[in-house]
Amino acid sequence: MAKKTVFVCSSCGHETLKWLGKCPMCQGWDTFREFSPASKADGKEPRRPVILTDEELADEERIATGIGEMDRVLGGGMTIGSAILLGGDPGIGKTTLCFEVAARLTELGLKVLYVSGEESLKQLASRKKRLGLAAGFAFLTTNHLDDILSAIGEERYALVIVDSVQAVYNPKLPMLPGSMGQVKDVSTRLTMEAKALDTSLIFIGHVTKEGVIAGPKVLEHMVDTVLYFEGDKMLPYRMLRTIKNRYGAVEEVGIFQMTGDGLVSVENPSRFFMSQRGDIGEGSSLFPCITGSRPIVLEVQAITQKTNFSMPRRLSLGYDVNRLFILISVIEKTVGKPFFDRDIYVNVTGGMKVNEPAIDLPVAASILSSHKEVALGRETAFFGEVGLTGEIRKTVNMDLRIRECQRIGIKRVFCPADGAHSEGIEIVTIGNLKELNKKIGKDR
Ligand SMILES: Nc1ncnc2c1ncn2[C@@H]1O[C@H](COP(=O)(O)OP(=O)(O)OP(=O)(O)O)[C@@H](O)[C@H]1O
Ligand SMILES: [Mg+2]
Repeated sequence: MAKKTVFVCSSCGHETLKWLGKCPMCQGWDTFREFSPASKADGKEPRRPVILTDEELADEERIATGIGEMDRVLGGGMTIGSAILLGGDPGIGKTTLCFEVAARLTELGLKVLYVSGEESLKQLASRKKRLGLAAGFAFLTTNHLDDILSAIGEERYALVIVDSVQAVYNPKLPMLPGSMGQVKDVSTRLTMEAKALDTSLIFIGHVTKEGVIAGPKVLEHMVDTVLYFEGDKMLPYRMLRTIKNRYGAVEEVGIFQMTGDGLVSVENPSRFFMSQRGDIGEGSSLFPCITGSRPIVLEVQAITQKTNFSMPRRLSLGYDVNRLFILISVIEKTVGKPFFDRDIYVNVTGGMKVNEPAIDLPVAASILSSHKEVALGRETAFFGEVGLTGEIRKTVNMDLRIRECQRIGIKRVFCPADGAHSEGIEIVTIGNLKELNKKIGKDR
């Protein structure tokens, strides 16, 4: 029987049995190339089903990298044999972070291979020198998938870092490097090979201008953990956020500070995110936020400015703008304060994006504080969800939030009624927005 060939679009990976001039998927012209896929069963021993026993477990399931914030987002260290996808904006520090991880693991006596498809050996050497990393881990500069596969096959590595998955390609496929088909093929082949050898993998991935990892979504399904490295490049700190983790909690956030010598873990983020000033001004309130398993005290700011335009502006950074619209209506209705002639801007400092509803109360407190021109001070914190009738609803992890506030020296916490009590800190239970309005100073 003649060997079956297919035609594959070099741009989007669409397959057809006949050659076409125009791809029906991506509409590209003259993109089809002939391709003969290898038979799936080529020389492969069939696998048999097994019953799982504890003997399947290795002595150690995780490797603690020693970088506190990295271990936190991975759920207590890197699971042996796991595949991690690290995405982030250009220049945010992905390579720097991976260099640090590679150096720490090498110091622990583990073998690490750093594959770079983007930088030359000279550039990598100068980066290593700048970061002051003495540990000698192996480098491979290549764009060919086969080079990586043969390097992994020859030597047993504990960790292989691929920088970046879009820069590596399989020349046997008729698609361009970084195209969907190539990224899919490269990641599948490397993940399968690494899993069989108990080698952990870190793929560095580029993100598109929409902020998602470039390439097929299947890439995120295939790996065990997806991490995003984010932050404002103008500011010195970076956040490592877990989007998916098969071996730990998601929504965990690791905080790093970018210095000339590399990345430094920030051990006490509450202090870091709170204003450095002696006191916080009007329109500012403190909020104990839960990120994954850790509470962090953030500062929520608002300004309410008189406007001469008929349509007042509402803008929000770090807080959902639709929630802001609703919250403003609820304040207007329950407290009886009209905002139709005022612009309202809300900002969560430090570039944190907060999705949990417990931020409603501090946002309302900041808006009222700005409107009444009373400072709430850095000894008071707020948390609680605001309902449509102005009632303050319970939130999760109330005790954890209160304990974090106490730890950093906050004296009073405004929160929903739930019998949450703690010694050494005053708990002010708030039933609705009217009560909040009364308790935070006189109306102007
Ligand atoms: N000499 C230096 N001193 C201080 N900081 C530096 C220096 N060189 C680079 N940096 C910092 O390192 C960052 C670049 O980090 P890195 O190369 O790890 O980013 P990346 O995410 O890998 O980028 P890319 O997507 O281009 O590969 C810069 O944005 C800068 O903040
Ligand atoms: Mg890089």
